[in-house]
Amino acid sequence: MLSTLSRDRYSSNMAIVSSSAGRADSQPPAAKSRVVDASPLPEEASPAREDGLRPRRLEDYIGQRELKQVLGIAVKAAIGRGDALDHVLLYGPPGLGKTTMAMVLAEELGVKCRVTSAPALERPRDIVGLLVNLQPREVLFIDEIHRLTRVAEELLYPAMEDRRLDLTVGKGSTARTRALELPPFTLVGATTRAGALSSPLRDRFGLIQRLEFYGLEDLQAIVERAAGLLRLQLTAQACQEIARRCRGTPRIANRLLRRVRDVASVCGGESLIDAALVDEALTLHRVDARGLDASDRRLLDLLLESHGGGPVGLETLAAALGEDPATLEAVVEPFLLQLGFLQRTPRGRVVTGAGRRHLGWPALP
Ligand code: ADE
Repeated sequence: MLSTLSRDRYSSNMAIVSSSAGRADSQPPAAKSRVVDASPLPEEASPAREDGLRPRRLEDYIGQRELKQVLGIAVKAAIGRGDALDHVLLYGPPGLGKTTMAMVLAEELGVKCRVTSAPALERPRDIVGLLVNLQPREVLFIDEIHRLTRVAEELLYPAMEDRRLDLTVGKGSTARTRALELPPFTLVGATTRAGALSSPLRDRFGLIQRLEFYGLEDLQAIVERAAGLLRLQLTAQACQEIARRCRGTPRIANRLLRRVRDVASVCGGESLIDAALVDEALTLHRVDARGLDASDRRLLDLLLESHGGGPVGLETLAAALGEDPATLEAVVEPFLLQLGFLQRTPRGRVVTGAGRRHLGWPALP
């Protein structure tokens, strides 16, 4: 059919993340004698600094029990049928492991994961290039999928539903549509804003899963695992302190762990990192005891100082903070809502009693 359209003609700005099917997750290496070591480790050499700490297999992925259970069954069933896994939409606040899960799925399926994000698929040929180069049963991961252009979305519909790419060849009155058959593949889409997805796109995903903030126990286990991979020795209390202050988010836990490592390597002296050192390091970085950072406090302070605690509309808040409303809603607010420090009401955002107490404001009469 479209044999004249060479697959190699299309290129795209995506990363290809290989899977080495069957490879066991890297276990924490044996602790070195000098435990706090500031020199870069092999697992940190990858372009995305997070990569070395990502779990590779489902069994190593801590937390998100329901998600793991649902996807684990779907993967086994797909392997049993010799077919591609159904398309998966993962949504939830940033940093909870959507990209990691896409890579884990590819690893479990024994295929490559091709990673891109919607803003990189600006021209139709970007998405066409990705699709025509897919191998059978591969995973195509599109981050921020709510930001796809309409043209890219419309190319995806038949690709997802019928494994068919409809291409327009020629221009004007001579333009014709040609269909190119695609191999079975799995699209994993990720978004912080599921509501911003068009319903035709959302409806084409067979599995739609929300990622939740992590509980303390899971976060502590994640910090312990990461500390092992980074060859750091932390007391259980030190891991718990990081877990308490990472906003329920593994990506932040790993970031805080690295900041703790910096402080430990420069001022620690001791090889064993304890909770006091974690407190010192995180206080230096203005992360408070519940994990609030400067932008959280700025939002709550603005509500309390300028608006008597609210209600204030999202747009007004965003303008006063110099933030984009969608970012405020999808990135900053979810954790404050989860902590019960903020409420969304029909008339706007309101600081709760717990939020007032946390910031040292007196209770309302
Ligand atoms: N690192 C980041 N997220 C993780 C998770 N869910 N499980 C294990 N390690 C992680």
